[in-house]
Amino acid sequence: MSSILDRLDAACRAVFEDMGYPAQIAGVRESDRPDIAPFQCNGAMAAAGIAKKRGEKVNPREIAARAVAVLEGNSDIAKIEIAGPGFINLHPSLNLLNQQAADIAADKLTGLNTVIEPKTIMVDYGGANVAKPMHVGHLRSAVIGEAIKRLLRVQGHKVIGDVHLGDWGLQMGHLITELQDEQPDLVYFDPEIKDGYPSDPPVTMDDLARLYPQASGKAKADKARMKRSREATAELQSGRPGYRALLDHFIDVSVAALKVGYGNLGVEFDLWKGEACVDPLIPDMIEDLKSKGITEEDEGALIIRVEEEGEKKDVPPVMLLASSGAVLYHTTDLATLVDRKTDPDPDLILYVVDQRQALHFEQVFRAAVKAGWYERDQLLHLGFGTMNGKDGKPFKTRDGGVLRLEDLLEIMNDAAGKRLEEGGIGADFPAEERNEIARQVGLAALKFADLQNQRLTNYVFDAERFTAFEGKTGPYLLYAAVRIKSILRKAHDMGVTAGAITLTDPAEQQLVLSLDSFDRAVKAASEKYAPHLICDHVYRLAQSFSRFYTDCPILAGDTPDDVKASRLALAETTLRQLELGLHILGIDAPERM
Ligand code: ARG
Repeated sequence: MSSILDRLDAACRAVFEDMGYPAQIAGVRESDRPDIAPFQCNGAMAAAGIAKKRGEKVNPREIAARAVAVLEGNSDIAKIEIAGPGFINLHPSLNLLNQQAADIAADKLTGLNTVIEPKTIMVDYGGANVAKPMHVGHLRSAVIGEAIKRLLRVQGHKVIGDVHLGDWGLQMGHLITELQDEQPDLVYFDPEIKDGYPSDPPVTMDDLARLYPQASGKAKADKARMKRSREATAELQSGRPGYRALLDHFIDVSVAALKVGYGNLGVEFDLWKGEACVDPLIPDMIEDLKSKGITEEDEGALIIRVEEEGEKKDVPPVMLLASSGAVLYHTTDLATLVDRKTDPDPDLILYVVDQRQALHFEQVFRAAVKAGWYERDQLLHLGFGTMNGKDGKPFKTRDGGVLRLEDLLEIMNDAAGKRLEEGGIGADFPAEERNEIARQVGLAALKFADLQNQRLTNYVFDAERFTAFEGKTGPYLLYAAVRIKSILRKAHDMGVTAGAITLTDPAEQQLVLSLDSFDRAVKAASEKYAPHLICDHVYRLAQSFSRFYTDCPILAGDTPDDVKASRLALAETTLRQLELGLHILGIDAPERM
């Protein structure tokens, strides 16, 4: 479906082309002054520049006047005016608005166009580490990654989300050795036993959460303790069966807990792969890289140089193997690329990871391109800034600890609960429903506050501000959706049904223009991997609806039946689009509040 802007755009381009100018100078866009006109075309200014170069003497206003003379005959245009030096202001015709409203209302995706050539896209996000507490970077990765995954998915791409668990590093050595200190008699530690290990895990999530900080704390203070952790890590990586069996238990226990945690956040992964599962690919991968002649020995380590000529800042080499023979973060990410190449062999891989890892990904991508596995434009790191505390540093809990997802959600839940109470919202609902609403409001507040920023900017965590019902917040949008739901329920009770849309009021027209900009917002957001553009859109839509609702009574007794039916259709369509937009952001609205 083409939008109103698309149609006006095509008309203006054609006219400028007929006048002997390149079509692309006459693009139509949303006006900077929507109070004057919704759309504008600035082609006359560029055309005058071209004319001048050609030695013609003509000013932009004259060119604009000639274009306007032709465009006035276009039935899609209600009013067209020249402003200032030659800006052309355009108003779509009522007929076009009515037609467009009908098309959007009839469309399953309310005007969103799916892509013609769907791609297979992997989104690597979440990135939690087994047994290590999550930090705010993991939270943002989950929220932004989920939104990008959904954004691309609604457009019709085949999108696969992979959590890419951190489960192959030193933390494993810490866990193994600490567990050994606590329970030295476990079969996993007996070097004579090579298989037949119990299928029940020897630890719970609480054990892991306790053992890891215990061990890492000791290791920080005690070199010998650290050495044991490192040795255990190396033994694990070289395949000691008991350690490998323990690792599998640690992963299972952690994944079960993470599934609950991410689930509470409304984040779902298609793949729960991690670093450990690509380890078997490493030896062949190293051989492949060696045979391609791109590796080098460097003080006992195996590296790939990836610097490029003329770079301001040196990009250090990729470390494939440390001099101890240990594999590193680079190695597992490269092996993961080999794994992904085999299946699903995606067209594109997006890494939604903290911007502080930008150099890591640059190095890995360059090596993968050097190896001939991928083209450079198939690999993209989508970084993001940090969520800070009021002190301007990455957010920590009150006692200075690393943030646990559960704790953050509880803070949001409490703040939302307080807001609901203040506003008397849901005061007469059953307690269970009220709690569920608080949970949804808190979560929406957190996600919207996170996503509405440009990805790379840092922002300050402020539960109170995030949960406000006024302004550009998650709760405001939930409220907008819930209000429409309640109108629809009332209409249903009154036996009013949606019907043909005939626009009579400027606020209705404004609402249709907002609805019509959805496809544009989705396209722009997916081109730039910028969920904040979806936030902008849903906010604008909610505001347009709010104005419409104030100016245009829907179910009032003196509203004629056909107007009721038309307005109800607008309300219904707005709700569908609003919910689809919120769905992209990973936000669900309650039925009532
Ligand atoms: N586990 C990593 C961390 O905590 C993030 C993983 C990101 N994804 C990747 N393919 N490296 O920093």
